[in-house]
Order: sequence, then structure tokens, then C-alpha cells
Amino acid sequence: MKIIKQISDMQRVMKIEKQQGKKVGFVPTMGYLHEGHQTLLKEARENNDIVVLSIFVNPLQFGPNEDLDAYPRDFERDEEIAALRGVDYLFYPTVEEMYQENRTTIIKVEQRVDVLCGKHRPGHFDGVATVVMKLFQIVTPDTAYFGMKDAQQVAVIDGLINDYHLPIDLVRVGTVREEDGLAKSSRNVYLNQEERTKAPYLFKALALGKLQLEVGMEVHTVKQEMEEYILLHTGYKAEYVEIYAYPTLQELKKVKEEESIIIAIAVKFSKARLIDNIVFSYS
Ligand code: PAJ
Repeated sequence: MKIIKQISDMQRVMKIEKQQGKKVGFVPTMGYLHEGHQTLLKEARENNDIVVLSIFVNPLQFGPNEDLDAYPRDFERDEEIAALRGVDYLFYPTVEEMYQENRTTIIKVEQRVDVLCGKHRPGHFDGVATVVMKLFQIVTPDTAYFGMKDAQQVAVIDGLINDYHLPIDLVRVGTVREEDGLAKSSRNVYLNQEERTKAPYLFKALALGKLQLEVGMEVHTVKQEMEEYILLHTGYKAEYVEIYAYPTLQELKKVKEEESIIIAIAVKFSKARLIDNIVFSYS
């Protein structure tokens, strides 16, 4: 595995790999790799000649009061995991390398961001879209792997690929969970012991919501019941409980006619803001 820190080096090796007809799979991350990230790497390894992993904690997607400085990092451990997972190139740039002072543009996401995390983290998805676009230009992958844990992010990247005619296949990988249902996340390390026992109720609430929709309960009633359930079992008021069509993230009209439905939750624990969702359809 080669570790590459310069954009120009990364572009040079990718050009050579592509000239040799190699199929390139790309997994962008912010590091502190857990089994969720590793599942993306495994899929990429199984379906490509070359696997590129990027580790970059992107300041542009963090708000002023968010956890940029406290975001967990452990490059040595990540490097070991990446090597074990068969990564060919680990792209690990500095902030200065990625954002040069003479920057003149930024991507502004206009659809799919007025709800869920986009509503509560203004500018977050502009930061995600901008960095992902930059990474796509640097790595020029054939296929890019994203986790449905961040379903709104997937919807935004899907729009980005479509809007800018990027010749990249987007692979959506299902959420990897702990045995008790808690979605794996780098931020789970912020949970204290008591919160850790309560966190699985996010997934339980999603399962409850799905069941209630399936038996024909009204969307607003389902949301209300889920909010009450979360408050009861975690002691926290959910930041949001939402139900939309997916990936458009538009209001649901009649549940049964929608292609895909997302139920999504965010809950702020004392130090960690956790999100989770399920996407499903009736057909
Ligand atoms: P990060 O949070 O490190 O996540 C990297 C990728 O791993 C994302 O596609 C995310 O959805 C996926 N992932 C995280 N937890 C997962 C889980 N439990 N199951 C399945 N996949 C999971 O998402 C980002 O980084 C950044 O926003 C990034 C796209 C790298 C842009 O900076």
C-alpha cells in the first residue's frame, strides 16, 4: 500500500493505473475506521482492480460550533486497517494541500438539503459536495462507495454525479450495526456508558416507525409516536424524526405509492450527535 499526501502525486499514479485499463474503486472517509468503513473497503476490493481510500477530516463540512477539533483521529491504526483490507493507495492530504488560499469556488447544494441534517447543519452538504467533487477530480474513480448510514449524503452525491455528468458509479452500502442495533459510527466513542445502553433505541424507534407505516398509520402520528418512544427510552428529545420519499427527500403523499421511503432520526446525546435511518419500499 502506498500512502500519498500530494494531489499531484495522486493524479500521476491514477493516470498510469487508468492507462493500464485498471478499474478504480474509491472509498472517501474522514478516518477513525470502523467496521462500517471496512465494509465499504471490502466491497471495493471485491469489485475493482485498484482500491483507493482517502482519509481527510474536511473542515468545510463542519459548522463553527461542531466537533472539528475533537473529531477522533488515529492514523497509525487506520493505516494498519487499510493495509489489511487490501487498499492500494491511501490518500492522506493536509488541509493546506486540499484548500489552497487562492480558492475561488464552492459547490452549493440546492436540492435535498432543506430537511434532516441539511436543515440542522447549514452549509454542511456544500462542504461535503465540494470535497467529494475535489476528491473525484483527484482520484478519477470508476466506482465510489458510500454508506447508507448517511442516506442524505448519498442523495446529495447522487445529485452531484448526475448534475455534473460524472462518469462514476455510485455504490450504496447498507448500514453496518453493532449487535444491539446501534449504527457503527466514529462518534460512538463520545457516548458515556449509560448513553451507550440507550443509543440502540434509535434503531428500535426506526423499526417501530416502519411497522406502524406498514399497518397504515398516518405519517404525522408515526412521527409523534417515535418522538415519544425516543424521549422515553433515551431521556433525550430527538433533534428530528422525519419521514420522506427517498432519494428526493420530498414530503410523502400517499405512503404506498412512493418508490422508497426514508425514516430518519437525529438525537443529541451529551457529547455525540447520533443519526440513523432506514430506507425501504413496499414493492
Ligand atoms: P465518514 O463519516 O468517515 O464516512 C465515510 C463513509 O463511511 C461514508 O460513506 C459513510 O456513510 C460510511 N459509513 C459510516 N458509518 C457507516 C456504517 N455504520 N455503515 C455503513 N457505512 C458507514 O461521510 C464522511 O466520512 C464524509 O462526509 C466524506 C464523504 C468522507 C466527505 O468528507
